[in-house]
Amino acid sequence: MTRVPDVSVVRRAVAELPLDADAAFDAIYPDWVRVASPRWWTPVRVARRAVDLLTRECPDGRYLDVGSGVGKFCFVGALASRAHFTGFECDARLHEVAVATSHMLGIGAGCALSHRDALEIDWVPFDGVYLFNPFDPPWAPGAVHRGRAAAVRATLARLRTLRRGARVVSYNGFGAAPPEGFVATARLQLHGAALEVWRSTGRIEGRGLTSRGRTSADR
Ligand SMILES: C[S@@+](CC[C@H](N)C(=O)[O-])C[C@H]1O[C@@H](n2cnc3c(N)ncnc32)[C@H](O)[C@@H]1O
Repeated sequence: MTRVPDVSVVRRAVAELPLDADAAFDAIYPDWVRVASPRWWTPVRVARRAVDLLTRECPDGRYLDVGSGVGKFCFVGALASRAHFTGFECDARLHEVAVATSHMLGIGAGCALSHRDALEIDWVPFDGVYLFNPFDPPWAPGAVHRGRAAAVRATLARLRTLRRGARVVSYNGFGAAPPEGFVATARLQLHGAALEVWRSTGRIEGRGLTSRGRTSADR
């Protein structure tokens, strides 16, 4: 028999953060996605904290999830904030689940999901970036074709393009610290892994201040 997902339970899990928030949220996913959740998808409580840290200075901003998987982080962001979340996922099967779940949850305009390599798109339009251990190891065989070291290098190059004041939040890291021009602003331990926050000072080597000028995050 097909399970009928209870959307209100998911929304309540995000809003009220009960002790079983992840079990309640993950019930919307197919079994094979749900069993992978403890290792691969951001826990609801962590996602709420990450969204708060990411959007604090620019609540209406645009935020990128590098490797959005089945959309869990983006959905928590869209449900719990005024910001817009864009998720890029290179694994087609995960992306399909994310799109179907977005429809089920009625996420609407707060989130856009794309089946693309996040390291091949322009990061300049974003006010912040979220990285949950995206390159270690790939979820599906062949999902990340370039290899971990090259993916980390490409991430550092993209981070250098972010505007002054942009924020980077990582959970369980991404394989490096952000490049010169970022300052660490917070580090907390949640669910057994580090949630870290950096802010771009715009002072990237050889370039001076980044070109996008001042934003509310700078004031
Ligand atoms: C640990 S999961 C995190 C999923 C989601 N961000 C969350 O927190 O629930 C990392 C995801 O990144 C994806 N990924 C890794 N490298 C990628 C890339 N270059 N472009 C798009 N997706 C990528 C993997 O396929 C995997 O689904």
